[in-house]
Amino acid sequence: MTALQLAKSTSKQAGKELKRLFYSRQFTTQLKSKHEIVTTADKLAEKIIISGINEQFPDHAILAEESGRNKKKSDYLWIIDPLDGTTNFFMHNPLFSVSIGLAYKNEVVMGVVYIPILDELYYAEKGKGAFVDGKRIKVSKTSDIKDTFLTFCHGNKLTALNSAINFYGKLKKTARDFRQLGSAAIECAYVARGITDAIVIPGVKSWDVAAGTILVREAGGKVSDLKGKDWTIKSNDILATNGKIEKKLLNLIK
Ligand code: IPD
Ligand code: CA
Ligand code: CA
Repeated sequence: MTALQLAKSTSKQAGKELKRLFYSRQFTTQLKSKHEIVTTADKLAEKIIISGINEQFPDHAILAEESGRNKKKSDYLWIIDPLDGTTNFFMHNPLFSVSIGLAYKNEVVMGVVYIPILDELYYAEKGKGAFVDGKRIKVSKTSDIKDTFLTFCHGNKLTALNSAINFYGKLKKTARDFRQLGSAAIECAYVARGITDAIVIPGVKSWDVAAGTILVREAGGKVSDLKGKDWTIKSNDILATNGKIEKKLLNLIK
């Protein structure tokens, strides 16, 4: 089984459980920090994905949001967000996803984002293009900021929140619309598919976007930090765009 096949199958397995729990609401919630919750659904989904990887690729390293990094030394690192959009999930908002990325020597080479309620599977491998359910996807061609549909997220630290508050007004007034959808991974997938034109996140974690970045790059878009340097798994923030509006957005955001 290839890494992509495994990521597709475990994201669907985890997604099936998330969907069941979303409709039944049979999960409990804990506070991680002032603005951050975790549910028993996040933990179950993570367990399913990690046991799949350990079975097929026992030598690979894993970084997963809820259990952290395992102790293995490997050039391969799986970067997992088992439930991206936990607050949406809790609020019975169906926009949540499973995000699985694979980095080789610190470069993301494969990514899968699965949206259980829409049953949409986004995936990409380095040099092979990006797809949703078998169909090739491409970023949008929009080049005028006033015509753009933009989204944003922010990390939970006060600095990230303040940064988002600072650029919110400017982008809300300039773009066609500027919204917070609540799942960074989905918002990257939507840029890759050309549904939206860009996503910006101050205070990002690698598991939120590892899979999303390869979707955007393989769909012809650009992924940088907020200073315009190419995004890496060590970056603290991210701007993923269709490429045409990157410079203008970097200017508006700073
Ligand atoms: C969160 C979502 C959200 C973003 C937060 C993330 P989680 O992930 O991606 O859109 O604003 O920064 O932490 O906690 O639901 O996996
Ligand atoms: Ca996340
Ligand atoms: Ca999560």
